[in-house]
This record gives sequence, C-alpha cells and structure tokens, in this order.
Amino acid sequence: MVAASGIMLTWWQSVGSCCHGGSQWDHVVMVAVSGIMLASGTCYRAEHLKQLSETFRKHNIIVLSDEIYSRLNYDGNHVSIAKYYPEGTILSTGISKWASAGGWRLGYSIFPDALSDLRDSVKSGASHTYTCAAAPVQYAAITLFEWTEETQEYVLHERRILKAVGQYSH
Ligand SMILES: Cc1ncc(COP(=O)(O)O)c(C=O)c1O
Repeated sequence: MVAASGIMLTWWQSVGSCCHGGSQWDHVVMVAVSGIMLASGTCYRAEHLKQLSETFRKHNIIVLSDEIYSRLNYDGNHVSIAKYYPEGTILSTGISKWASAGGWRLGYSIFPDALSDLRDSVKSGASHTYTCAAAPVQYAAITLFEWTEETQEYVLHERRILKAVGQYSH
C-alpha cells in the first residue's frame, strides 16, 4: 500500500460503486476496527468481538479490520473479528510492523467471497492509482510468509521487547 489517503479514497469510491442495487449490502456502512488501539495499546477481547459481530451482522455492516499489529500482540493471542464475522470482514494487514519493513510498502487485504464484487472494484481502483508493491519486495515477502523458525523467533523477541517497553512507558 503506498499512500494511505489514496487507499482510503479508492476504498470509498469502490464501496459506492459496487454496493448498491439488489445486494445484501444495499445500505452499506463501513466501519474500521483496529486490532490494537494505538493510543493505549489495548486490544478487543474475543467476547467484545463476538458482540460487535452480532451487531454488524444484524445491520449488514461491512467491517474493514486493520490488523497490521496482530503479530505483535504482546502475548501472541490476537483474535481477528473475521473469526466471528467472516462474511462481512475485510482484513487488512502488511509487513511493515512485525517484519520491521516500514517503508517497503507492502500491505494486503483479504476479502470474503461475499464481497468479491467489492474486491474486484478495489483492485481496479488500485491498479489505476498506486498500482502494486514493487516486485523485489513481493519476492522478499514470500520468504517472510514461509514463517520459518527464524522468523518466528524474530517476532517472539519483538513481542518480548515491546511488552517490556510497554510496561515501563505509560
Ligand atoms: C494502525 C495502522 N494501520 C496501518 C498502518 C500502515 O502501515 P504502513 O503504511 O507502514 O504499511 C499504520 C502505520 O503506522 C498503522 O498504525
């Protein structure tokens, strides 16, 4: 993902152009849910996400869940709202945080089948605005996603360090 403002514009234009007329998402409201609250470092617990999901499902609300910090959850117990509301959740994440690859501009989103029209629309918008992540970064990401013991150990140390820092800085 290249420029946050460009991305958000693409998202909103895409939602407007594909979620109308005869679809489950006729009256679309999109909410952004973040895995970790930036100011406090606190996270939703499973019971919160379950309750939120019930409301989102009842009102056909599309959720854009920003889970870019999920692998850095101090205790390694991140839960995604996609677990409770898979049909309406678009999960967005990237490698800039957990892989310490800020600046390398690789992020991605996972869409449910129920939102394939929106996915296609976002892809089309993206190809006309920020195109895609650079090929060398994509190749590097393949190695990351192999999730080797070395990579896991790296993330474990990151979490350990961040937890220690978090305990001493309020
Ligand atoms: C909550 C959250 N989501 C997404 C991003 C985007 O990360 P990047 O542009 O480094 O991929 C950031 C960056 O700080 C963030 O704090």
